[in-house]
Amino acid sequence: MNKLSLSSGAQTFSESLLDSLVDSLAENSYAVVDNFLSASEVEILRKHLLENYHSGEFKLAGIGNAANYNKDTTIRGDQIFWLDPETVSEDMQFFFDRINATISYLNRTCFLALQEYEFHFACYQPGSFFKRHLDAFKSDDSRKISIVVYLNEDWNEMDGGNIRLYLDDETGASYSKDFYPIGGRMVCFRSDLIEHEVFPSGRPRLSVTGWLKTRPVLGF
Ligand code: OGA
Ligand code: MN
Repeated sequence: MNKLSLSSGAQTFSESLLDSLVDSLAENSYAVVDNFLSASEVEILRKHLLENYHSGEFKLAGIGNAANYNKDTTIRGDQIFWLDPETVSEDMQFFFDRINATISYLNRTCFLALQEYEFHFACYQPGSFFKRHLDAFKSDDSRKISIVVYLNEDWNEMDGGNIRLYLDDETGASYSKDFYPIGGRMVCFRSDLIEHEVFPSGRPRLSVTGWLKTRPVLGF
């Protein structure tokens, strides 16, 4: 197997990992990859997240975009900090290298024409949640793939904070799947198709979350 070896840490980010991600995305419109980041990589991102959080750089997240944008903690209660890949510290660059490799692979294998991405850190304080929603906006369909990578240490199912994906089987029957925000785990799904929900947790729930996008076409 041809390894891309994009990681500087112990974890080797391999083409076989991307292969299984693409297979699952194509078949189920979602994929879950444990150890997408190694424990030491999670540690680096968590350290930066907490620094930004404690220096007051996080803001309550909104819902919708453009004219439809507003904030409503009865729908969404997480706080976020947008990351600028141009200015993040050197030791976080591996994360964007990994995202770029994922984009190249998806473009080669799925003809997705992804051209951009945007990522933010997110922190759900105990009790906050994000009700069932779709990530693609009504007026802008540039978000194609949603990615959440969890940055929590020693998460236990008793802590709650699961993401629930709302899915349909081959017969069209609805069912759902829950995943806990275990450090290093990556959950990704089609932004325009998969409704999902974040349940409250008993402790702060940390992640880096973002979207792989095509260039938005400005509409009316
Ligand atoms: C989001 C979202 C899921 C999660 O930020 O849009 O649905 O598990 N996040 O944090
Ligand atoms: Mn979402």
